[in-house]
Amino acid sequence: MKRILVTGGLGFIGSHTVVELQNEGFEVVIIDDLSNSKIEVLDNIEKITGIKPDFYQLDLRSKQNVQHFFNENTIDGIIHFAAFKAVGESVQKPLDYYENNIGSLVYLLQEMRDRNIDNFIFSSSCTVYGQADELPITENAPIKPAASPYGNTKQIGEEIIKDSCTAHNMNAISLRYFNPIGAHDSIKIGELPLGVPQNLIPYVTQTAAGIREQLSIFGDDYETPDGTAVRDYIHVVDLAKAHISALQRLLDKKNKQNFEFFNVGTGKGSSVLEIVNSFEKVTNQKLNYKIVARRAGDVTAAYADTTIANQELHWKTEKSLDDALLSAWKWQESQKG
Ligand code: UD1
Repeated sequence: MKRILVTGGLGFIGSHTVVELQNEGFEVVIIDDLSNSKIEVLDNIEKITGIKPDFYQLDLRSKQNVQHFFNENTIDGIIHFAAFKAVGESVQKPLDYYENNIGSLVYLLQEMRDRNIDNFIFSSSCTVYGQADELPITENAPIKPAASPYGNTKQIGEEIIKDSCTAHNMNAISLRYFNPIGAHDSIKIGELPLGVPQNLIPYVTQTAAGIREQLSIFGDDYETPDGTAVRDYIHVVDLAKAHISALQRLLDKKNKQNFEFFNVGTGKGSSVLEIVNSFEKVTNQKLNYKIVARRAGDVTAAYADTTIANQELHWKTEKSLDDALLSAWKWQESQKG
């Protein structure tokens, strides 16, 4: 049985990926510092799969911690989610973002080098493309200057991994996520935003639940069919499964280069208004919203060309936008009291 380290394994995408890894017969050990997650997620994973993953509450910003972990554990592959992810906060606290997102990555790669551990999957983002010149966005689209320190950590992270793969004969895949949403079918795990949500879907569900008074739609003067910005919203379970496919590709030595990167989206763009309308339809809820000014740093439209990911990872999305929105709502409802 292959033993896989999942850093940030109690977070939104991490927890869903742990479930899929266990479903596929992998043994999982999680590292999470609980800075943006809850320990209950560990029990909820066990409720879904019947297996409690090994767990280390550990801060990866300490090289000593990382060394200590690898002294105690034999690992066949790493899926690295642990990172800060709030775009606005990263502008206020760039050094925290560089320390956490880059420092931890370097320590993990050093241990991999020193202990001959291979097979690394990195959480990247479509933010590396900025406003792409052509849509849908292929993997060949140029990397644009990052609009935030957060985005920069993803770009720099990919560079660091690429250089490490070349120098140390390691193999890695970077997955460039579009917009992950939704919750597990069991409604036992989902997104747990801290404080006021920055992302659209948790803001929508919290507004429908009465926790937020009104959704602000950031701009209706974009060059899109209805004027609101367009994104590629992917169900988190589909996204989680892409990690299993990528890991399997590395374990089977089917990768064509030491360092590869793939777009993980649905290939379909939806505007903010389309999301609002679909949400109202599938959940039978009325959403209170208003149009406000654009949010700084937002691009007009981003959706993936998934051809290469579909072919190379033998992976495709199985769930619809409506599935994702309904599960997000059920998850929100489950959080009451
Ligand atoms: C953002 C980041 C992305 C990051 C992702 C994960 C940018 C440009 N992109 O994606 O790098 O990986 O978060 O956290 O910052 N919207 C509203 N009202 C709201 C919230 C959002 O209208 O209250 C709109 C936004 O303007 C955008 C869309 O909804 O058009 C999606 O926003 P969001 O969920 O924050 O994701 P991104 O900005 O695409």
